[in-house]
Amino acid sequence: MSDFDFQPGEDFAIAMDERDPLKGYREQFLIPKIAGREWVYLCGHSLGLQPKATAAYIEQELKDWAELGVEGHFRAKHPWVPYHRLLTEQTAELVGAKPVEVVVMNSLTVNLHLMMVSFYRPTRARCKIVVERGAFPSDQYAVQSQILFHGFDPATALIELTPMPDESCLREEEIESLIERLGDEIALILLGGVNYATGQAFDMARVTRSGHASGCIVGFDLAHAAGNLPLGLHEWGPDFAVWCSYKYLNGGPGCIAGCFVHERHARTWNLPRFAGWWGHDEQSRFEMGPHFQPMPGAEGWQLSNPPIVSLAALRASMDIFDEAGMERLRAKSVALTGYLEFLLNHNASAKFSIVTPREKERRGAQLSIRVAQHGRTLCDALAREGIIGDWREPDTFRVAPVPLYNSYHDVFRFVQRFKAAIG
Ligand SMILES: Cc1ncc(COP(=O)(O)O)c(C=O)c1O
Repeated sequence: MSDFDFQPGEDFAIAMDERDPLKGYREQFLIPKIAGREWVYLCGHSLGLQPKATAAYIEQELKDWAELGVEGHFRAKHPWVPYHRLLTEQTAELVGAKPVEVVVMNSLTVNLHLMMVSFYRPTRARCKIVVERGAFPSDQYAVQSQILFHGFDPATALIELTPMPDESCLREEEIESLIERLGDEIALILLGGVNYATGQAFDMARVTRSGHASGCIVGFDLAHAAGNLPLGLHEWGPDFAVWCSYKYLNGGPGCIAGCFVHERHARTWNLPRFAGWWGHDEQSRFEMGPHFQPMPGAEGWQLSNPPIVSLAALRASMDIFDEAGMERLRAKSVALTGYLEFLLNHNASAKFSIVTPREKERRGAQLSIRVAQHGRTLCDALAREGIIGDWREPDTFRVAPVPLYNSYHDVFRFVQRFKAAIG
């Protein structure tokens, strides 16, 4: 519910932008234009915009590579061997973790598989995985393939949490009651922190508590939560979490991803895991010995030496997050999304409905708008005018005002154009 006294006129949007303490951050991003006018880009839930500083961060590494070749591993301005550590403190801060619990590596689905190799250990009695119905397809494929890999059948081992009839979102108490009911058959609970289709944010502390009370492993896919919501992973206590960095984190297309492993597993050396040399104890990594001894904590799951150019792009963005601060970003995000909801409701029509929960605790920046008919055509037509959201089959138009670079006026313009296009 909204705590704000929103007004429908354009002057309100202009006044809100003027007094927005974070308004200067928009200047730090490259906003695409159409006919000289900036797009209304409400698609940071899919691919965040490019910080202007990204090019300089990348150019530094290209320069060091050009001038130093292999010596750059140790003599670059920011030596490449420990380069990923430049992101550790900021990443830990971002997801509410201890530094030992986080690492940036690989991409999201790869990290999800690596985590399941270690944390999905099914037995005949306890082999099930719980996901939300309509989880992102990559997650569905990943969990199904892990179930098959262990010789079980997804038809019986995969449980999908399904909203009540006529509802779009899950109720937390339903999640709890399913866990209580089937708890001793469940090996792993894997939920999105924020569901990609509905925009529903889950109470991750509560899910973790109830999963652990039933002896289950709990993991989260934070693709739509990292950089969107303040997170407290260490305190909430899930066993693992994974996320990508190209949505709210603005790292760029396919940017290196993040991974969290709770401290309680940091030194569990006998956990099965798929190993690679970058996860090996750094003191003896270059002795090139044949026996794998993992680093403590999340770094022990690394496989390969990381892509420096991708890490450089992520640093550019994480420096902005660090300065702006997640709490301040969240405060603006709650207001911006509340304003979007207010304007949509002000222009209510039977032709669309908002499926994202109304309570701010149960959502992030994104609103998912169900469009009764011709939704994709509408989304494509708006995109041609530089009004950018995205379409998810069968009927969902997703839009997310992002507090770093979106303005209240963006939201105002979006609703004007949306209203005109839907007729
Ligand atoms: C919720 C969710 N999970 C997983 C993925 C897949 O990510 P990747 O292709 O980086 O592995 C996405 C991509 O958009 C996503 O939204």
